[in-house]
Amino acid sequence: MEIDTITTICGSPEVENTWIYQINDTGLYVREAHIESVTPSREKTTIVQITDVHLNDTNADDEADEEIMYTKQCRTWNANGISVKALCSAMEYAENYDRTVITGDTLDYLSCGAMELMQKYIWDADSNCIVTLGGHDVTKQMQTKRPNKLPLSERQAILEQFWRHDMYYFSEVMHDNVMLIQLDNGCHRYWEFQIPKLEKDLAAARENGYTVLIFQHEPICTGRTEDKAVPSFYVWEDCEPYANFYDTCIGYAPASDAPTMAIYRLITENADIVRGIFCGHEHSSYYMEVEGTYTDKDGKVHRKNIPQYLLECNVYEGYTGHVLKITV
Ligand SMILES: [Fe+2]
Repeated sequence: MEIDTITTICGSPEVENTWIYQINDTGLYVREAHIESVTPSREKTTIVQITDVHLNDTNADDEADEEIMYTKQCRTWNANGISVKALCSAMEYAENYDRTVITGDTLDYLSCGAMELMQKYIWDADSNCIVTLGGHDVTKQMQTKRPNKLPLSERQAILEQFWRHDMYYFSEVMHDNVMLIQLDNGCHRYWEFQIPKLEKDLAAARENGYTVLIFQHEPICTGRTEDKAVPSFYVWEDCEPYANFYDTCIGYAPASDAPTMAIYRLITENADIVRGIFCGHEHSSYYMEVEGTYTDKDGKVHRKNIPQYLLECNVYEGYTGHVLKITV
């Protein structure tokens, strides 16, 4: 097998969490995460994450929709479907591995044109692809300074008809090794109906020795006050160099509702089996650890941090794509 030559963009392979390299042939930017399996004897499993694809386009079906036509005028970033190029580059790489997960903001705004591109380049290319929702997927307004005409539930209903799996909660066990869980938190919150599903899956994972990986759009609060301004380890194009992973994040107790806190606790209080959280949203490259705990068989509580990876937006630097390759 031919080995691709690569160029390091940032960091070094010795410190994997902050290493970014580019594959010379395709220009694809790659990060890697090696996660220790809860049951190391199980078959190696490799998942590729892509995020923030931001498909921006309209088609004939949008023309009668005044709301979308006004957004089209206001929103020029990635217009005319240009981010398809970066999507295809990342999807082509991902097809060599066990599963592909796209963590939200796949559509730049909810247009028929963007959904057509998603159908063609995601669902038709890989019917097993798992896609979480981001805030962009559920809005028809972008840079218009206008509110959405339809309530959130009606905008979600449009997507529900079209999504290939439960878009709020989906889980899958791969190679008897990894339990991959996708959770919608794209509206900066979790939902009540996600709680029993996650409880059941975590119990099954514990019972069967699975390694749990969480995929969602937004990161969660790390639990540390000093994380109000975490530096991005590589700042892409016009991205902010810092982000707040404390009091503006999901799971910061004073600002989160009860279902959101219940899910937050389920994730962070099972830190022995939840081995990674993978998200996007900020558009730049981050790695941090979320403070977690687990309770042993004797009821004793132990502290253990959970790695949280934020992959950068897929379109930056020449539309060649960005991926995080996760090996368990
Ligand atoms: Fe985004």
